[in-house]
Amino acid sequence: MIPERFIYYKLGIPEIDDHHWHLFVLMTEVASLLKNKKKEEILSLLKEIELQLAEHFDIEIKIMSNMHFPFIDTHRAEHELLLSDMQDIIRDVNKGVFDGLITSLEKILVDHIIHYDLLYVSYANNLKLLGK
Ligand SMILES: [Fe+2]
Ligand SMILES: [Fe+2]
Repeated sequence: MIPERFIYYKLGIPEIDDHHWHLFVLMTEVASLLKNKKKEEILSLLKEIELQLAEHFDIEIKIMSNMHFPFIDTHRAEHELLLSDMQDIIRDVNKGVFDGLITSLEKILVDHIIHYDLLYVSYANNLKLLGK
């Protein structure tokens, strides 16, 4: 069950929305495992998220590059920051530190969609409207 405070944002590119949804579901699984602090299971889910996130970021960068999105460098730098945040999260959980885990995951998996992904998807939609 998806916790009530989690909000999922659909942007309108089906492949990207599928990735985001899948990552979002993995985050909700982490949240449910967190109640019992099942460290090994949480760690394996976090590593799965890290892998899928890296693949997802590569695909986003390809899409942005294909349409000559002007803010691609800023977006790429943000992805790199998020992957390093993800490594910090995994390191903390490895040490048995679970504080702020879900807030940090939300920052990576939800805030980025609203503040960054929305920009390139809007740009893609504008190009479509202009017939380019
Ligand atoms: Fe994304
Ligand atoms: Fe992104």
